[in-house]
Order: sequence, then structure tokens, then C-alpha cells
Amino acid sequence: MCRYTRKLYLLRRSLLLLSLINPSSVQAVEKIDLIIDTDPGADDVIALLFALASPDELNIHALTTVAGNVRLDKTSRNARLAREWAGREDVPVYAGAPTPLQRTPIHAEDIHGKEGLSGVLVYEPKKGLAKGGAVDFLIDTLKAARPHSITIAMLGPQTNLALALIQDPEIVQGIKDVVIMGGAHFNGGNITPVAEFNLFADPHAAEVVLKSGARLTYLPLDVTHKILTSDARLQQIAALDNNASKLVGDILSEYIKGDMEYFGIPGGPVHDATVIAYLLKPELFSGRHVNVVVDSREGPTFGQTIVDWHNGLGAPKNAFWVDRGDAQGFFDLLTERLARLT
Ligand code: BDR
Ligand code: CA
Repeated sequence: MCRYTRKLYLLRRSLLLLSLINPSSVQAVEKIDLIIDTDPGADDVIALLFALASPDELNIHALTTVAGNVRLDKTSRNARLAREWAGREDVPVYAGAPTPLQRTPIHAEDIHGKEGLSGVLVYEPKKGLAKGGAVDFLIDTLKAARPHSITIAMLGPQTNLALALIQDPEIVQGIKDVVIMGGAHFNGGNITPVAEFNLFADPHAAEVVLKSGARLTYLPLDVTHKILTSDARLQQIAALDNNASKLVGDILSEYIKGDMEYFGIPGGPVHDATVIAYLLKPELFSGRHVNVVVDSREGPTFGQTIVDWHNGLGAPKNAFWVDRGDAQGFFDLLTERLARLT
């Protein structure tokens, strides 16, 4: 076979092989266009490092901050610190609502520390906030987006998204998914016997989001309390021996104490980080489509999520409620991503 004929033969063979390959298997994984709404917060910061270390899957348009675990100026600073620690100053941080829609503000300094980040030293990050507010950013981005293209990870009280939806209900068209850390059904609450902190901190906002018609996924305490730290899991993170793993180790060593003591559980949950794991590897989790309402009336059930697990009411299913997760799978994924940071 002369050189020219052999080249032609090889080219034909490559083309034939390519035609045999299933086209879907050669397509690049489609990135998730994501906005992370957050109130850092110890577990929020871990979630942010996790997400910012995953640029192949997550196209993070912005971090939007809200008052919650601590005041807005502190949550906004902590979000900027997380961005700096991840070396991702390309991602803008917009500050949002300083207070909930209607109720008196509450914070969780007893769990997250006075600065919202116990276990590590906080300081003013190099890069400031983006100009403009989080609510306007949400409205502008969702309005300009392709239909059902933007995913929103909600790691704190849902005030910012609720304000955006109240101002312009049409923006729901731009939303693909809202993935929420919040609520409690089987587990019971962590701020009252029946309410979880994020829903208790602004139930009126959660109500607006629940009624918006957006596709919602809840990662409640029911699942986050099944994904607990252990000595071995903390060890696997520590073994990375980079800055990110040291930060996460230092944050967790303080943060998990409160829940372990209060609930008498052998390890601590890393609540908000489960949202990021769900986005990256939903196959680690399972749940059920259900009807969810939140109680926003004053009284002992204020902030409680009422989940119709057995469809007794036959009411429209407005959320996917995650109740199970692969704990070791979660910690392996978190470790793998933290290894990518410095
Ligand atoms: C949720 O409340 C906050 O304190 C945490 O950051 C998390 O978002 C857990 O109930
Ligand atoms: Ca949070």
C-alpha cells in the first residue's frame, strides 16, 4: 500500500469508528448555569469552596448574600472570603436583603460564632462587592436568561428570591431549578422542635418561593442529618494538606460541636454543602415529589414545613423532597473537589 492509499485507509477507518460511537457519549457535559444565594455561615463557606472548586460542572454567575446566620455585612464579607480562598475572584458577590420580609430578624451566632465563621480568622478580603443589589441582579439575570436555564442554590433564608419574585413574577420563566437547603419533616427542627433555621428565619419568603411555580428541590434536615462527619471523614480531608482542607478542618472542628451535643449524634452535618453535592451528583440522593407548605402563622409551629409524604391531601406536588443520601459518597466528592484548590 503506497503512503497516500494508506493515509486514505486510516482516514476512512477513523470516520467509520466515529460513526459507530453514540453521539451522546461524545457530547461535553452541559454546565449548570448557577447563582448561589447564601448567608455564610460555616457550612455555607464549605459549600462555596466545594462549588467554586467545580468549574467543569458549575458555571457560577454570582454569589448573592442575605442576612441569616449573621448580619448582612458579615455574610457578605464571608462570601467574599470564600471566593478569595478558592482563588475565584472572577465570580461577583452581590449583597441582598438585610432583613426578612416581615418577621423580626434572627441570627445563629451561637452556632456560627460572632463573625459567622468560627474556627478561622476573618479579615477584610481584597476584592469588594459588585455594584448593584442581589435582588436587581436576580431580576435582570432571570429576565435576560433563556427560558428555564438558570439554577439557584438557596443556602439561607429565601428573602432575596422572594423579593425578586414579588417585584417581577415573570422572572420565574428564567428559572430551571431552585435547590434549597431547608425544612424538616421526619427529623424535627433545629431551631424549634419543628422548624429548621432557614425556614424559621423567613417563612414568608419561603412561602412566596413555594407558590411561584418554579421547580423546587428541598434538602432538609431529614437528609443532612444522615450525612455526618466522622473521625475518618475528617481525616481524609485533613490528609489533603492544602489551605482549603485546613480551612474546612478548622471550620468543622468548631461548627459540628453544637449539633452533636444538641442532637446527641456521632458527627455533625454540613447542611449547605449537600446542595452542591446534589447539583454535582444527584445520583447520591433520593427522595419523593410531594406537596409542601410552610407555616407562617405566629405560634409553636412557626416556620414548620408540612410535607404530605403519603399524598393524603392529593394536593399538587410542588417540590422534590430529598430524604436520603450516600454519606461516604458525599465526603469522597467533597474531598476530591477540595483537592483541586490550593
Ligand atoms: C441551615 O441553617 C444555617 O444555620 C446553616 O447555614 C444552614 O443553611 C441549617 O439549618
Ligand atoms: Ca446557610
